[in-house]
Amino acid sequence: MKTVLLLAGTAEARQLATAYCALASHEVATSGTIFQQDAPPVRLIASLAGVTAKPLAYSCETRKGGFDGVGGLHAYLKRERIAAVIDATHPFAVGMSRNAMDACDALGVPLLTLMRQAWEPIGDWHSFATLEKAIAALPLGARVLATTGRKHIDPYIARDDLYVFLRSVDGPDVLPAHIVPIAVRGPFTVHAETALMKEHHITHLLTRNAGGESRARLDAAASFGLPIHVVERPPQLAATVVHTVADALHWLDDVLRD
Ligand SMILES: NC(=O)c1ccc[n+]([C@@H]2O[C@H](COP(=O)([O-])OP(=O)(O)OC[C@H]3O[C@@H](n4cnc5c(N)ncnc54)[C@H](OP(=O)(O)O)[C@@H]3O)[C@@H](O)[C@H]2O)c1
Repeated sequence: MKTVLLLAGTAEARQLATAYCALASHEVATSGTIFQQDAPPVRLIASLAGVTAKPLAYSCETRKGGFDGVGGLHAYLKRERIAAVIDATHPFAVGMSRNAMDACDALGVPLLTLMRQAWEPIGDWHSFATLEKAIAALPLGARVLATTGRKHIDPYIARDDLYVFLRSVDGPDVLPAHIVPIAVRGPFTVHAETALMKEHHITHLLTRNAGGESRARLDAAASFGLPIHVVERPPQLAATVVHTVADALHWLDDVLRD
């Protein structure tokens, strides 16, 4: 049986695991459109970084924790006889994606990147190449809803003139007084985002161009005319990229038949 490694941690990765397991157990009619009827069985392993305290469950086998760099991933791919890798990590998880590219290249393992489409600019949109630049452009005393992740708080610390409402799934442990954690897991509706922005008298939204369905914050901010500071995505280096779960399943079907 061939084994496929799914680098996970995103909604798309979970959707892919769910779709694959449904197909594999024939809950969904395959009818040759996604997986052909005689598709070989596959062991699918979803890999999580292990950074979220209570990650959502996956429908397939799951492993947790880093591989210990590109060398560790290389050894893992060999040991587990991985036949293909799908990198469905977050568009800003560049370290993992780079390691996957290098290890797969070295071993000749087929690699697919499944990445949601970036958002198109909306409202009072300002693009920045880095989080530091996006923060530097905020005016004195701005009240900011920040959805840039709990890993990257250093650039906010120096701007103690700001009021930063930092939203992430798990809150950071220790924060200076001007950074208020909001530990909550999405998805959020436009109505909920609007209420949150009103409650905290938000003047600016600071987000990364994560793309995909979690765009309610953009629509809410645009409806108020709030400036939206957006850290744009790092360059995409992967050779084979798809944007939908269905396309990823097609790719997998083709690759596993070779
Ligand atoms: N960046 C975000 O805003 C964001 C948002 C939602 C979800 N996530 C998910 O959270 C995870 C960590 O994000 P990040 O920005 O810290 O990534 P990163 O900077 O690219 O990764 C840092 C290290 O974490 C480990 N790692 C990352 N993803 C992994 C995975 N799926 N399985 C096993 N190890 C993994 C790897 O450690 P080793 O070098 O030891 O192998 C990697 O070198 C990613 O899987 C990503 O999909 C990230």
